[in-house]
Amino acid sequence: MEIKGRGNWGSQFGFIAAAAGSAVGLGNIWKFPYMTGRYGGAAFVLVYLLFVLLICIPIMNSELLVGRKSQKNAVGAFKVLAPGSPWFIVGVMGILAGFIILSYYSVIAGWAVAFIFKSGAYMAAGADHANIFVGSITSSVAPLIWHAIFMFMCIGIVAAGIEKGIEKYSKILMPLLVLIMLVLIIRSVTLSGAGAGLSFYLKPDFSKLTAEGVLAALGQAFFSLSLGMGCMITYGSYLKKDQDIPANSYWIAGTDTGIALLAGLAIFPAVFAFGLEPGAGPGLTFITVPAVFAAMGPVGHFFGILFFFLLTIAALTSAISLLEVVSAYFIDESKWDRKKAVWIMGIIIFLLGIPSSLGLGIWSGVKILGGRDILDSLDFIASNILLPLGGFLLCIFIGWYWGTDKAIEEGNTGAKGAITLGGGYRFLIKYVAPVAIFIVFLKSIGVF
Ligand code: PFF
Repeated sequence: MEIKGRGNWGSQFGFIAAAAGSAVGLGNIWKFPYMTGRYGGAAFVLVYLLFVLLICIPIMNSELLVGRKSQKNAVGAFKVLAPGSPWFIVGVMGILAGFIILSYYSVIAGWAVAFIFKSGAYMAAGADHANIFVGSITSSVAPLIWHAIFMFMCIGIVAAGIEKGIEKYSKILMPLLVLIMLVLIIRSVTLSGAGAGLSFYLKPDFSKLTAEGVLAALGQAFFSLSLGMGCMITYGSYLKKDQDIPANSYWIAGTDTGIALLAGLAIFPAVFAFGLEPGAGPGLTFITVPAVFAAMGPVGHFFGILFFFLLTIAALTSAISLLEVVSAYFIDESKWDRKKAVWIMGIIIFLLGIPSSLGLGIWSGVKILGGRDILDSLDFIASNILLPLGGFLLCIFIGWYWGTDKAIEEGNTGAKGAITLGGGYRFLIKYVAPVAIFIVFLKSIGVF
């Protein structure tokens, strides 16, 4: 993928692999299961699916078509389509969200990198997985080193211009990740006591659903699909006119949602079988997965290493898209050299991540939003506020300012399949999506 000279995606599949690579990441495998656990199980999943379908897919189409139409980064796109207006601020908010998300994202990804190397202790039979995990993330220096290593990998890839490599490897490694997850699911659902986990995950109990849970489902849908911060605008800007935006949107959203659902299926039966707490929070995946693999004996050890290797790759393809959004802005708008932009932004983001990591250990006394630690608070602000707000404003921009006619025309250019944008898209983007986001916001701050 050529970035600097405003190139194009080589093929439809190449684009889908890169965009799905951005979407599929820690959000699916780490965050979706722990959010589901925290907010009550199947009812949360159903609300999540509803938001993907009614809000996020129309917004995915919109971001891609805004990108392709303007051929610009998140901020530049609004400057081209709405010159002289303040709409570009939506893009600026997106860049800010990108900074915040990548700062803690890299801390979590660092844990996955560490697991590849420390798997011996983590996956030994009889190991106390919860204690080992908590011990390792609460120490001060080691997690920061893994965080630095992960950021360094991102910087290296993005500074080189996202070379063919990552696109090429994503195409092989992503399917491999799904395969390993299937192994994990089979082992997980056949553990004794798995049934309680399955019913927690699959049988909705709406009495467990809170307003905060609904907001979290909305934020999670945006986060998981890489929406609301201009990432898909940036990726869409490298699309050619003959590429099919509506079909691409369904492929990306479908892949992303499918992998999140599979991750839940791998995790929850094991959580219940091992008597762990589904609401355990950010450690859920990191504790359950080694526990399941350890229960498989030596072959499990091998799968465990492979799993965390693939999780690192999934995190990397997402993290580079985050760093790309931030850097593309400084390259296009401030005319910085790519290397300079990527290194400066990468280092700032690394530094920003330090409090998130320390907040789990020596700074664990620091609680910000409603008792949340630093990492959780930043995630809350970015995922639950900035991303849905970015999505909301994009709906208003398209539905009420730029116009759905222009959007539909651009979106359908190159559409070959049965799916095209039309009355349904218009209705969702103008009314359903913005009203739903607005209501969820009001409800979560307790207006009614
Ligand atoms: N979608 C990624 C995940 O689920 O892990 C995270 C992410 C990437 C969010 C890119 C936002 C973004 F622009």
